[in-house]
Amino acid sequence: MMASRKSHHFIAAWMRSPLKIGAFLPSSRSLARAMAAEVDIEKPGAIIELGAGTGAVTHALLQAGIAPERLVVIERDERLHALMSAQFPHLNVLCADAAHMDTVLDATGATQINAIVSSLPLLSMPRPVRQAIEHHMATLIGDDGILIQFTYGPKSPISRSQMHKYQLQGKRMKLVMANVPPAHVWVYRRG
Ligand SMILES: C[S@@+](CC[C@H](N)C(=O)[O-])C[C@H]1O[C@@H](n2cnc3c(N)ncnc32)[C@H](O)[C@@H]1O
Repeated sequence: MMASRKSHHFIAAWMRSPLKIGAFLPSSRSLARAMAAEVDIEKPGAIIELGAGTGAVTHALLQAGIAPERLVVIERDERLHALMSAQFPHLNVLCADAAHMDTVLDATGATQINAIVSSLPLLSMPRPVRQAIEHHMATLIGDDGILIQFTYGPKSPISRSQMHKYQLQGKRMKLVMANVPPAHVWVYRRG
């Protein structure tokens, strides 16, 4: 699908509910590649993508060599989900709320998780929803998995107290200037 058509769908979704989408434009190829580059594909386990939007990060994950059967994609917006399913018919693309990712993932049989790759707009979510999502992400990665999350601001999108609660170490890996707006890629793992 042409990039401009995807942007059109994305902007339409943003106009329907700006806070739920969290960005005016889809992630750039540079940001998507920077996120995908953090996944160690040699390590076993599923890769879970949260908030796939129009699929820029999905595409980068596949380009990085991740086998389609290892990837589970979650997108809540019904129209964006339909777009994703049409674009990636060979992938497991679920229309679901990441706040319920534990039960959703149970049904997929994804027990060991290599990485959660999230484009979710954590900072524009109501606090209880954000904390529920952070709880699931921190629990699901276990001792060996990682969480990759981008953010536009200079600070960690996961607060210090949440990191402390779940014994996570967070590291800002990259600032992607080519994204609009520029975005930081953070990686969290159990410390
Ligand atoms: C910043 S956009 C993602 C951009 C995406 N990387 C792209 O290139 O199109 C955030 C996405 O997260 C989705 N989203 C927001 N809250 C969600 C939730 N609770 N569960 C699942 N998806 C959610 C939105 O519908 C939106 O598609």
